[in-house]
Amino acid sequence: MQFFIDSADTEEIKQAQAMGLLDGVTTNPSLVAKTGRKFKEVLEEIVEIVDGPISAEVVSTDAKGMLKEAREYASIHENIVIKIPMIVEGLKALKVCVEENIKTNITLVFSASQALMVGKIGATYVSPFVGRLDDISTDGMELIQQIRTIYDNYAFETQILVASIRHPIHLVQSALIGADVATIPFQVIQQLAKHPLTDIGLEKFLKDWEKVPS
Ligand code: E4P
Repeated sequence: MQFFIDSADTEEIKQAQAMGLLDGVTTNPSLVAKTGRKFKEVLEEIVEIVDGPISAEVVSTDAKGMLKEAREYASIHENIVIKIPMIVEGLKALKVCVEENIKTNITLVFSASQALMVGKIGATYVSPFVGRLDDISTDGMELIQQIRTIYDNYAFETQILVASIRHPIHLVQSALIGADVATIPFQVIQQLAKHPLTDIGLEKFLKDWEKVPS
């Protein structure tokens, strides 16, 4: 399973990278807005930090505009993946990107039927948002299970990238289902390593070590 960080904050990305877990990065317009920086500048910095897929999201809502943005971002670095919203115009843009060998990540996916279309056209990644589904009393992980089954039934090569992860259990459940990738906020990456028994155990070991003659 690949771990991506869901962030546009280059300091966070550097810290996660230092933990040796990072396979890639996803960004979105809200995450970029939080940095207060120009997107192209942020993107150029991220590709220097992480040698893996980096998702850059288009903000046009028509296929022509999306493709213009896609070609521009894709020309920055071979690791750039174009993130396209799951709307009809997005599917049109996806088809052309597939023909032009531009890597894609279809975002804002909330149903199995949407994911089926994405897999059939042949996106590189599909991003179902589990946390936002949970927020409206719908089981986000059930969607991941449905997409896994559908993609396996038809041997679709599109990778399932679990997005909108809110806590470690989302990650564990994604791994049990066999999702290909999870994009994880920095705060959750930090939570993953934590266990109170580890901290209590270490404290005791270090205290006992003081009694050992040197
Ligand atoms: C996915 O790529 C999105 O950037 C992200 O996971 C959305 O998460 P949120 O629902 O916590 O905003």
